[in-house]
Amino acid sequence: MKAVLDDQAYLLPGWNDRRGNIVKVQAAMIRGQSLEDFLRSEGVPLDLNGKNFISVKGNSITSPTLYYRVENGKVTGQGYILKPPDSQYQTAQESEMVQSILMQKLGFPYAAARKDGGQSIVMELGGNVADGQMSWGDYKPEKVAWRGRIHQALANTLFGNADRHPGNAMYYVDADGVGQAMPIDFGRGFLHRYRSPEQAADYVLNMGFDYGQWWREENRRKSVVERERIAKEMMDATKEFIAAMDNLGDISESMDAVVASMGNQLSARAKANMVELANSNIAMLKSPEFLAAMKLRIASATSLSPDRIA
Ligand SMILES: Nc1ncnc2c1ncn2[C@@H]1O[C@H](COP(=O)(O)OP(=O)(O)OP(=O)(O)O)[C@@H](O)[C@H]1O
Ligand SMILES: [Mg+2]
Repeated sequence: MKAVLDDQAYLLPGWNDRRGNIVKVQAAMIRGQSLEDFLRSEGVPLDLNGKNFISVKGNSITSPTLYYRVENGKVTGQGYILKPPDSQYQTAQESEMVQSILMQKLGFPYAAARKDGGQSIVMELGGNVADGQMSWGDYKPEKVAWRGRIHQALANTLFGNADRHPGNAMYYVDADGVGQAMPIDFGRGFLHRYRSPEQAADYVLNMGFDYGQWWREENRRKSVVERERIAKEMMDATKEFIAAMDNLGDISESMDAVVASMGNQLSARAKANMVELANSNIAMLKSPEFLAAMKLRIASATSLSPDRIA
């Protein structure tokens, strides 16, 4: 199998319509030392002068490699990321892979990831999957609607993701022109168990890495009508996310599929721990106490009395 690349032929089937699916990439295209080596051996141009992709090296401990597709001389938000194992966290790849599946079920622009022929996993970038234009710049909370910010914080809460900072979020503008947030980098997942629904609601309203609480001050200066609108958007987003959790299905089944696709290298105990933590967080997020705690904190963030919030 030769990787044929020209202006019309993209690496992943489906890229023509901007919706790739890494799971459908022929094994021949990802076998070998690593995807990168394979592409090199096929003579695929991966530098800035190349026609189709540029590669960018991450600077974290895992040092991922990103491939961005180049279109008419411009770098697009489409491409994929190759992530080697994390020497400090054994279950990092399983965490990334299962969250990709579950994030997709929650409605975020994710597709299933897969292991390459070597040690790495290959994941699609949001630009392949998202409706609308995916920016690949820094996350900017002020460009994201409240709904997206709440959804992002809730997703990180659900999966117990540590390592949250503005570098681990993306934003994009969807087909309706609305700014959406997208959490990324799930290598340090399934780590946080919330002590109480109140503690989780505190986390969500601080927005984790969403630059703390500057927006509380900003909200105070807004009119009552505007604050009520924001409070409603936040409450609706919370309820919408809680309802979307019904699409997650059996977490254990998704985990089994990931572990099987990686050659069953994860211990049964490690797997059970991850599933248990997710299920415990889901149950907490579904509790009436969590919604009540959210209501109180949204009221405080918008300087409204809780009885003005539906
Ligand atoms: N699903 C995605 N969609 C779009 N871009 C992504 C996605 N995942 C990762 N990226 C891009 O790749 C970069 C590195 O990814 P990630 O944060 O997962 O790895 P990391 O190991 O923390 O690396 P680094 O420290 O270099 O950021 C991100 O900052 C982002 O620009
Ligand atoms: Mg990161």
